Amino acid sequence: MTKKFLLYSSPIVILFMTISLFEPWIYRNFITSGVVDTRLKGEHFDIIAHKGASGVAPENTLAAVQLALDMGVDMIEIDVRNTHDEEIVVIHDATLDRTTDGTGLVHDYTLEEIKQLDAGSWFGDAKYVGEKVPTLKEVLDLVNGQCQVLIEIKHMDHPHYHDFAEKLIDVIKEEKNGYEWIILQSEEVEYLEAAHEYDDHVQTKKLMIGEDSTPLLAFYIETKMHLGRAKEDDRMKALNPEFHTLSTRRVFRMHARGFQVYTYSPNTEEDMIKMLHMGVDGIITDFPDKLVKIRKDIENL
Ligand code: G3P
Ligand code: CA
Repeated sequence: MTKKFLLYSSPIVILFMTISLFEPWIYRNFITSGVVDTRLKGEHFDIIAHKGASGVAPENTLAAVQLALDMGVDMIEIDVRNTHDEEIVVIHDATLDRTTDGTGLVHDYTLEEIKQLDAGSWFGDAKYVGEKVPTLKEVLDLVNGQCQVLIEIKHMDHPHYHDFAEKLIDVIKEEKNGYEWIILQSEEVEYLEAAHEYDDHVQTKKLMIGEDSTPLLAFYIETKMHLGRAKEDDRMKALNPEFHTLSTRRVFRMHARGFQVYTYSPNTEEDMIKMLHMGVDGIITDFPDKLVKIRKDIENL
């Protein structure tokens, strides 16, 4: 009886598992509208510049941050790392090679050495030649509460990053009303927990799924884990998933457990509008100007 039951039920189980795995793809391609319509009217969402306005200026530079401010974004996302002399700099990769004219690991160089590098030429626009890798403090001083700042702590499995969350908080504390407009996010819950233990005033968001992960399955497991511990995690204000992993149903479930949902990084207008129809609270994008236009289109409906 049990054998027969397994034999007959397994195709159905496999069918449901497959649908569940491809649910975001199905929603994005067949269910969700990619055009602005009245259903979006009155829906609040935050516009978040990914690495500054990184589609139009070299990422994580003061130029990209200033451009994002000029566009009128609600929040600017940046990535931080530690130099050899334990200064916090704003740069995405563990190495200098992709976004500067230097080479090697960021944490093998002092701040003074990193400041000699050109972080703008690689972008291919003459007006950004000579841009520098900024320190976290330089970025925060420039923003100065004009919008929110989302600081991403990357996975830093290296003794050099011991106490890194605590060091970040010390920089946040130096800014006027820093806790109101500066938020930490990380894929590594350990950093967020360490930050809370150091100072519980800090706001945190849990980042979910890097581009190098196996998105759908990993997302499924991770979401289950966090939805399951929603009560314990109530210091975590948001789950920030990669946009290919989302569906209307998944956003609904996260909301039902009290999490906000900030998704990254749809860069076409169509994908951004689809995310808005799915009900996300914010979109982290390289092209915040497109999202500003979408917001105006919605207001003018
Ligand atoms: O804010 C989320 C997003 O920035 C994570 O991806 O690789 O661009 O840092 P990544
Ligand atoms: Ca990031």
